[in-house]
Amino acid sequence: MAKQNSPPVEEKKERIPQTMNGQNSLTITDNRTGKQYEVPIENETIRATDLRQIKVRAEDFGLMTYDPAFLNTAACKSSITYIDGDKGILRYRGYPIEQLAEKSTYLEVAYLIIHGELPTKARFEKWTNNIVMHTLIHENIKKFVDGFHHDAHPMGMLISSVGALSTFYTDAKHITDPDSRKRQIFRLVAKMPTLAAFAFRHSVGRPYVYPDNELSYAGNFLNMLFKMTELKYRVDPVLEHALDVLFILHADHEQNCSTSAMRGVGSSHVDPFSATAAAASALYGPLHGGANEAVLLMLDEIGSKNNVLSFIKSVKDGKGKLMGFGHRVYKNYDPRAKVIKRLADEVFEVTGRNPKLDIALELEHIALNDDYFIKRKLYPNVDFYSGLIYQAMGFPVEMFPVLFAIGRTSGWVAQWQEMLLDPEQKIARPRQIYLGPPVRDYVMMGKRSEEKSA
Ligand code: ACO
Repeated sequence: MAKQNSPPVEEKKERIPQTMNGQNSLTITDNRTGKQYEVPIENETIRATDLRQIKVRAEDFGLMTYDPAFLNTAACKSSITYIDGDKGILRYRGYPIEQLAEKSTYLEVAYLIIHGELPTKARFEKWTNNIVMHTLIHENIKKFVDGFHHDAHPMGMLISSVGALSTFYTDAKHITDPDSRKRQIFRLVAKMPTLAAFAFRHSVGRPYVYPDNELSYAGNFLNMLFKMTELKYRVDPVLEHALDVLFILHADHEQNCSTSAMRGVGSSHVDPFSATAAAASALYGPLHGGANEAVLLMLDEIGSKNNVLSFIKSVKDGKGKLMGFGHRVYKNYDPRAKVIKRLADEVFEVTGRNPKLDIALELEHIALNDDYFIKRKLYPNVDFYSGLIYQAMGFPVEMFPVLFAIGRTSGWVAQWQEMLLDPEQKIARPRQIYLGPPVRDYVMMGKRSEEKSA
């Protein structure tokens, strides 16, 4: 998650004084040589390659930057998502997340994220029709899903089956052909819920339910998950709406771990199904898509409102973290958490109140008024309440990252396409600082020392 360094025009109030030649620049003095360098500053960023001119001898490689985990490196220019972590702002293509969550639908937001503008009525109908027309998966994919062990994790099944799609759609390798890209985007947005639902049905030993094109995106997904033997499964409109909003909230989050994987793997010009499998694998990790599960485990461990104070004390004593709190980018209330909190009330009206909510509310209340959390700017993040909603809706915890992946697919494909169309992008290939042994001669096996080869 890169620091936002290209705020929209209206927010650039403070102008940095310019240098004589009219350009903002950074003057660097190399104490090794006494030489001075003028490095241009554009979008409050310097180009790392501009540092390559800084060298002691002509044959030197030049100065590099060292930035493990990309804490301060922008790897791309993007027009998709804007985050201001200090102010708790999240916007897709300029539109505040709160407005999109309240007024839009996931399919409309997916269109916006991918195309850059909200669709007209005619364009939206065409887009929806294209998604609906691609929801089915090849019958042979079902055989893959069938082949998984009965207790296979649904996220593992999703990753494998989305990667397998590349063997079914061989035209997907034509990544420079705009029509081909468009087709694969329809397929990915349309088929992820189907793959996810089939993975879930396999894990609970139920027959697969085929997509119902009469239903909404979220409604069809719920139908594929929960339909039993009834002729028509009635999707609860409140839950359908809640799931749709959750997909919107997860649709994109600029250069997070899985999106960086999508861009990095896609930069090799592999097909988008293979790149999406890589992105979903990144999301599977507990540091990324798995935190909401940890929140539920923590609430179970606390057990009751009465134990909240002592739990907070143990966190402050360094005996663990308050899961669902804190964020690398947000140093304010995560705007998605605010929306989810309101959504929880609507969902619990239908499902009954999740008893863990009282513990969560008490935790939030105490933490937000406690110096430890105030000083460190630790606020609830998107995962603090989402797990409670998912659980109340009947999802097992293993499905949480799968739900995340469905929503995030529109962001992944939009970022993938933006990367391919950016003339400045090349195959992603970071440098390293080599700290290993210098050159040495091969030693025959019989002559190697025990200590060294341990
Ligand atoms: N509970 C208690 N203390 C915390 C927490 C927390 N949840 N998060 C951070 N801190 C403390 C750290 O111990 C550190 O304290 P110190 O300065 O005394 O050493 C300080 O706050 C700064 O924290 P960092 O670890 O430097 O913050 P970083 O940006 O590296 O980590 C992260 C962010 C990983 C999200 C962290 O806040 C965390 O682990 N939170 C809990 C897990 C979680 O909810 N993850 C979901 C994130 S949202 C998402 O990925 C979709």
